[in-house]
This record gives sequence, C-alpha cells and structure tokens, in this order.
Amino acid sequence: MGIFGFIKEEIDVVKERDPAVKSSMEVLLYPGFRAIWRYRIAHRLYNHKMYFLARWISQRAATKTGIDIHPGAQIGKGLFIDHGIGVIIGETTIIGDNVTLYQGVTLGGTGKEHGKRHPTLKDNVMVSAGAKILGSFTIGENSKIGAGSVVLEEVPPNSTVVGVPGRVIKRDNVRVPRADMDQCNLPDPVMNEICRLTKENEEIRKVLNDMASRLSKQ
Ligand SMILES: CC(C)(COP(=O)(O)OP(=O)(O)OC[C@H]1O[C@@H](n2cnc3c(N)ncnc32)[C@H](O)[C@@H]1OP(=O)(O)O)[C@@H](O)C(=O)NCCC(=O)NCCS
Repeated sequence: MGIFGFIKEEIDVVKERDPAVKSSMEVLLYPGFRAIWRYRIAHRLYNHKMYFLARWISQRAATKTGIDIHPGAQIGKGLFIDHGIGVIIGETTIIGDNVTLYQGVTLGGTGKEHGKRHPTLKDNVMVSAGAKILGSFTIGENSKIGAGSVVLEEVPPNSTVVGVPGRVIKRDNVRVPRADMDQCNLPDPVMNEICRLTKENEEIRKVLNDMASRLSKQ
C-alpha cells in the first residue's frame, strides 16, 4: 500500500476507535499515527537489511512520540496506539489486525529467551494502559488485557486477563471461577488434626505392644 492509502486507512482506524477525535486533520497530530507510519517505512528498510537507517527512523520516532517500535516487529493492519507515551514494541513481536494498545504498554522479552522472545498478539486484541506482556507466547484473538497487568503466559482467544501476574477472569465474556475461591474443596483443619492424632495414636500403640511383648518374655 502507498503512503496515501496508509494515511487514509490509519485516519479511519483512529476515527472508528477514539470517540475524542473531532476531525481527520486532528489524527495527523496523534503520536500513535506518527509512530506507526514511521514504523512502516523503517520496517521496509529493515526487510531490505538497511538496519542502521531503519533504526535511525525508529529512534527519531521514539524521541518525538514516546512510542518505541522496533523496525523488525511485524504489525498487521489497523493498529491503534492511543495516547502512546511509554509504548515499547520489541523486535520479534508479531501483531495481527485491528489491535489496540494504550499508553505505557510493553510488548517485551523476559531476558531469558533467545530468537523469538517477544509476544504474538492475534487479531482484535486490546492491551490496556500500563500492561506488560513479557515473553514469546501468544495472546489469542479478541482478548483484552487489563490496565496494569503483567502477563507472563499464553492467553486463550476471547479472554479477559487482569492482575499481576495476569490471570484469566473471563472467557467468552463469562466469569471464570478463581482456583483459590473453590468453596467445595476447602482445606479442613479439624479433619487434618484428627488424622495427625490417629497416626500418633497408632505409633504409641505399636511402641506399647513392643514393650508388653518384651516384658512378657522376661
Ligand atoms: C480489563 C478490562 C477491559 C475489563 O473490563 P470488564 O470485562 O468490563 O471487567 P469488569 O469491569 O467486569 O471487572 C471484572 C473483575 O476484574 C476486576 N478488574 C477489572 N480490571 C482490572 C484491572 N485492570 N486490574 C485488576 N482487576 C481488574 C474488577 O475489579 C472485577 O473484579 P470483581 O469481580 O472481583 O469485582 C478493564 O477493566 C480495563 O482494565 N480497562 C482499561 C482500559 C484502559 O486502559 N483505558 C485507558 C484509556 S486512557
């Protein structure tokens, strides 16, 4: 797609997903818009192994917008980065179509992996403000990551994840019960104590029987 096609598409994406935008011209001022079109150019240069030039463009974009997209990242159509400040997208990240990222999102690595070390976000994923997704796993399509979450493992499609570390609280918009909220299999301290006393009683009986049999032989 040519640059004008991209600009039109990106303006449509922002108008569709940001209720605050009042005109198409305003979109040109959005840091997300400015970072993404620079990324598109940098990514082409990266694919042609012009790594220095690609980096130069992406670093300038990061300085101007606060959005640091590595030129090696693979990003589909319709990415919307709202507000933008503090967004980091690592080199081996793969982003599907129609993904939304808010400010402060990191799509990063844990430092423990080599090769593919950043996440894959499938189509229509939303990552809320300040969320960190760290590692080379996949976030399934249509999933939402809550504000401030730290996600360290695979997320199935159509899930909502919140917390540190992130846990799935909804799947297909239905609440998922928490494992530690299981009220049917609660630990039973009274029963545990009875078991302990029964075992102790058996051991004392055994010792007494041994003593009795030794005394009877004398
Ligand atoms: C993740 C999110 C999309 C979930 O929305 P939802 O499906 O409507 O979830 P609910 O509001 O029904 O909340 C479900 C539970 O998760 C909890 N929860 C929701 N978001 C949470 C978060 N970010 N961190 C921790 N817990 C969260 C709620 O307190 C609720 O818990 P409870 O049932 O024990 O009371 C939303 O909470 C969120 O984080 N949105 C942020 C969007 C954003 O970044 N906006 C910035 C614009 S500038």
